[in-house]
Amino acid sequence: MKIVLIGKNGQLGWEFQRILPGLGELISLGRDELDVSDHYAVQKTLIELRPNLIINASAYTEVDLAETQIELATDVNAIAPGVMAETAHKINAAFIHYSTDYVFDGKSNTPYTENDPANPLNLYGKSKLMGEENIKQSGDAYLIIRTSWVYSLRGNSFVNKVLGWSRKNKTLKIVSDQVGSPTWARMLAETTTHAITTNNANFLDILLERRGIYHLAGGGYTSRYEWAKEILANDPKRTEQLVQTIEPALSEEFPTLAKRPLFSALDCEKFTKIFALHLPEWKETLQLAMTG
Ligand SMILES: NC(=O)c1ccc[n+]([C@@H]2O[C@H](COP(=O)([O-])OP(=O)(O)OC[C@H]3O[C@@H](n4cnc5c(N)ncnc54)[C@H](OP(=O)(O)O)[C@@H]3O)[C@@H](O)[C@H]2O)c1
Repeated sequence: MKIVLIGKNGQLGWEFQRILPGLGELISLGRDELDVSDHYAVQKTLIELRPNLIINASAYTEVDLAETQIELATDVNAIAPGVMAETAHKINAAFIHYSTDYVFDGKSNTPYTENDPANPLNLYGKSKLMGEENIKQSGDAYLIIRTSWVYSLRGNSFVNKVLGWSRKNKTLKIVSDQVGSPTWARMLAETTTHAITTNNANFLDILLERRGIYHLAGGGYTSRYEWAKEILANDPKRTEQLVQTIEPALSEEFPTLAKRPLFSALDCEKFTKIFALHLPEWKETLQLAMTG
């Protein structure tokens, strides 16, 4: 079994690099080895490597910058996934791709299901939605996994930002009108891996039979404000915190280039039913990520 992981240095890609060697021969590619905005290189590399499974953890994830770098965001988030899916089909490989809660406009007040209409508010969301459409058009054995509010304990995630702010400020103001489902990158990589390794069937058969869009995120939902409070409560180095108060704020107090959906929680029942997997509550997972 040969697996190609694209985007090995991101939050999700890094977690996959730890897990996937157990499944077979793993070839992990970062931007230096494969720049996915070079679509010819994407096709050529995959044809040369001829993997059985391709996992795309790469994406243009700078939500605000995407408003001014739409060409690059489109190349990476919209066109490249379509080329990967088409090439996977040609070489008989299974393909797994990730999309986002930002395909929704946030006007719902109940968690979004896969059947709810997409209506992205920003160019990042639009480019990711185009990526989904391109995969559906040319893909064969594929999973498109929409996730949300991904964090890890590495890099510039919301968790690390809150911890950093808590060491420099006595008061923190965090938006309380954005609601979503925090998702630990490790949980996302592990759950995806469990899903495709059930019943000892091969990846191609599993993904052919179950192909489509799935929502997969931490269980339940919360506001960024409540999430930040929970991050501070689970901080293993609490004595380093300067912060004394944490105040709720409105998104409009922090204007950004890109509009964000106010409510983007994902209903993951389709995934848990079809793959017979339980998803832990976001709070439990956060505690495990920070103190486990
Ligand atoms: N982060 C979130 O809150 C969130 C929410 C919903 C959905 N998602 C989706 O979940 C997936 C994983 O996200 P993540 O948080 O792991 O993202 P991430 O940490 O930003 O990682 C993205 C990776 O893609 C790579 N990349 C960007 N442009 C590239 C290019 N032209 N060629 C090759 N590689 C390129 C980056 O490379 P460098 O390391 O060189 O920059 C980075 O390693 C993505 O599909 C994302 O859209 C994320």
